Amino acid sequence: MCGIIGISSNKSVSSSIINSLKKLEYRGYDSAGLATLFDGEIHEIKSEGRVNHLEKNFDLKNLKGTVGIGHVRWATHGIPNSINAHPHSSHNVSVVHNGIIENSTLLKKSLSDKGHKFKSQTDTEVITHLITENLKTNELEEAITKTLKQLDGSFALGIIFKEIPDLIVGARRGSPLAVGYGPSENYLGSDSYALKSMTNKITYLDDGEFCIIKKDQVNFFNQNGKKINKKILELTSDELSYEKGDFKHFMAKEIEEQPTTIKTGIKEYIDNLNNDVNIFNFPWKINEIKSITLIGCGTAYHSCLMAKYWFEKLTSLDVTIDIASEFRYRNNRFKDNSLYIFVSQSGETADTYAALNLCNQNKMKTCAVVNVIESSIARDSNYVLPIHCGPEIGVASTKAFLGQILILYILALKFGILKNEIKKDDYLQKIKDLKNLPILLEKTLLLDNDIQAISSTFNEAKGSMFLGRGFSYPIALEGALKLKELSYIHAEGYPAGEMKHGPLALIEEGMPVVVLAPKDSYYKKTISNMQEVIARGAKVLLITNKSTDEVFSENIWQTIEVESTNEDLLPFLLTVPLQKLAYYSALKKGYDIDKPRNLAKSVTVE
Ligand code: F6R
Repeated sequence: MCGIIGISSNKSVSSSIINSLKKLEYRGYDSAGLATLFDGEIHEIKSEGRVNHLEKNFDLKNLKGTVGIGHVRWATHGIPNSINAHPHSSHNVSVVHNGIIENSTLLKKSLSDKGHKFKSQTDTEVITHLITENLKTNELEEAITKTLKQLDGSFALGIIFKEIPDLIVGARRGSPLAVGYGPSENYLGSDSYALKSMTNKITYLDDGEFCIIKKDQVNFFNQNGKKINKKILELTSDELSYEKGDFKHFMAKEIEEQPTTIKTGIKEYIDNLNNDVNIFNFPWKINEIKSITLIGCGTAYHSCLMAKYWFEKLTSLDVTIDIASEFRYRNNRFKDNSLYIFVSQSGETADTYAALNLCNQNKMKTCAVVNVIESSIARDSNYVLPIHCGPEIGVASTKAFLGQILILYILALKFGILKNEIKKDDYLQKIKDLKNLPILLEKTLLLDNDIQAISSTFNEAKGSMFLGRGFSYPIALEGALKLKELSYIHAEGYPAGEMKHGPLALIEEGMPVVVLAPKDSYYKKTISNMQEVIARGAKVLLITNKSTDEVFSENIWQTIEVESTNEDLLPFLLTVPLQKLAYYSALKKGYDIDKPRNLAKSVTVE
């Protein structure tokens, strides 16, 4: 959340900073700013709104300087406006910050008592003044070490100094931060994505560390200010996947990429010759694991819920799921024989990362199901199962969801066969069905015109409901989340059988209700629940699968049929029309699909 870029070079840096900020906008887009050093002063420009707003408001040619920092913001302290935008500068220090400083009120008071004047409502400005204060009596490295120790909370920082004009300081606790190496210049970035267009040589800072970046040299320090050595990693270049190509939005591209996501996942995890699941170097004996706890946030949490249904069907494991922000503050009873699985696209979500750290501190077995393999969650887990779906730029998660549930399904199959809880024939059949899934997804993606037409009704409604039972229930939650985050329409996901226990009161004449009722073992029950909402005036969009069985129900407003496959895999297919419904609904409303209001990708604050 929020994006940081810093460049120390032998040439002017402002336009490169602007270009990187544009790439980082998916992390925050309510305001943007940058600061460079020239003519012996800090020069700062800031603006509410997007980076192109900043570009329009200021003439970058006037912003000279070979050292600079930039930021895109997702507001935490203080409304999104140009005053609260970063950088925050004093007469001699300028700071960009991701994260939250929890003791900012106390620090602000003591700094105000010492005569420091604050301009913004942000917690970040406190850091600027704290460093300014500490520099009065300390050399740079001591001042930074001292400042970091005085801060409570989480941060990734980029800092420049009027009186030491050839360098940038980067520091990390909680929020990710990377250093990149280029020819005659070096970089600081809140993720490798911002740096990838400039370099593929990266070092990630670990919690508590800071660095000093000059154009020709980078030094790293631990939390006590002692110099340390860090490895330089070479990232694979994958520039094309960062472009929209012919698509209007990244989300549209990422929805269409899903057959490839699944194909890649199958290639990585299925041994084609032996029709077996390949999970290499799994660090524990299968019998050591008696239970599984799956943890994530938002869409990733829906993946956990989906996995619970599969694990419970295919294995006898005891399966618990948890929302990361709840897990971390409960009095958990940690179980030695449990495997804790952390699901995250970005691998940087603060709550999921904190839950992982809690498990690590309690010496639990931890496994990450992530997309970004260089991420903090991947690096700090005992074992990593990458989803290999390529960069996901649209803020609303689409292909990463299918990527996550694919890996979790494959893992459930592997546990099932290793624990002798699935018959060999069933296992082989399920793998065969899995291999056919990309083709079925491609066909399901063709359901386009119908969904476009249907989306208008959702846009005109006060609210909507998404119902499903069993395997379709997590998908109902996911469909409702997509619609609300993109179209800002109130949407609730519910287990179909729960409606009569309260939510049925919401149903009124003409309310659009999506009913997910594939012809699986829950079908008849769901159809009965569907009748209950139709009887109360709901306009039902039934999403089912093609089958020779007729749907015995009257008064269904619209029906969409996805392809057919075994019931375990139907959730993959049911997801696609719901993603498209949310997409077209937002498109018709003219909303910013890749950057919905108030949201950001990679939520690195609690
Ligand atoms: C919704 C969405 C979010 C994320 C959540 C977790 O479309 O994308 O709900 O799923 O913020 O993010 P990751 O997976 O990066 O941990």
